[in-house]
Amino acid sequence: MEIIRIPRIMREASREYLVRGRTLGFVPTMGALHEGHLSLVRMSKEENAITAVSIFVNPLQFGPSEDFSRYPRTVDEDIEKLRNEDVDILFLPAETLMYPEGFATVVEVKELSEKMCGRYRPGHFRGVLTVVAKLLIILRPTRAYFGQKDYQQTVLIRKMTKDLGLDVEIIVCPTIREHDGLAMSSRNAYLGKEQRAAATTLYRALSQASAAVKAGARSGEAVRAIMQAELSKEALLTGIDYASVFSPETLEETPEIAGKVLLAIAARLGSTRLIDNMLVAP
Ligand code: PAJ
Repeated sequence: MEIIRIPRIMREASREYLVRGRTLGFVPTMGALHEGHLSLVRMSKEENAITAVSIFVNPLQFGPSEDFSRYPRTVDEDIEKLRNEDVDILFLPAETLMYPEGFATVVEVKELSEKMCGRYRPGHFRGVLTVVAKLLIILRPTRAYFGQKDYQQTVLIRKMTKDLGLDVEIIVCPTIREHDGLAMSSRNAYLGKEQRAAATTLYRALSQASAAVKAGARSGEAVRAIMQAELSKEALLTGIDYASVFSPETLEETPEIAGKVLLAIAARLGSTRLIDNMLVAP
């Protein structure tokens, strides 16, 4: 595995593969890699000649009171995991090379980025899209891989690449879970033992709501109530940003369940914010 730290070198390396007609799959991450990340890597390896992974804890997507400074950084272990997966390139840029002094450009998808998590994390998606756009421009991958776990992020990235005419196929892969259903996340490392046990409430609430929709529930309000009831049993939850039924396209809350819907929760356990979702069709 080649480790590249300089954007210009990364750009030249991927251009070289592309002129030789090789397909390039790209998996952007912030590191602290787990099986969720590795599932994206495996999918990319199946579908492309070359696979590149980036690790960059992107300061632009963290709010002033968020966890940028304590975000888990485990680069040595990450490198080991990526070597075991036979990844071709690891792009590991320094912050000063991604955002040199005077960096002033942002990428924003209006409206969609204000829904769901956007209401609780102002500026977050602007930070995500700015770094993803920059990475896609540096690497010019054939395909880029993202997890459904961050559903709103995938919708925004698809919209951005379409609007800007970026020539990349966006592939969304299923959420990988722990044995008890908890969606894998680098942030799960923050949870204490009791919080870790409590965290499965998100999966239970989504599973019950999903079963209700499959069994014929058609009222968004009724399905919301099922999720709220399950979450309210968990005393360790310190806040629920949302637990609701959304249109998978517009990310608006849906009063009527007519077609496929997105069930999604964002909730806090102490200072740790967890998100999870399921897509379900009646
Ligand atoms: P990060 O949280 O490291 O996630 C990197 C990728 O892994 C994202 O596409 C995310 O959706 C996916 N992922 C995380 N947990 C997953 C799980 N349990 N199952 C499947 N996929 C999972 O998302 C980001 O980083 C950043 O916002 C980034 C896109 C890298 C931009 O900075």
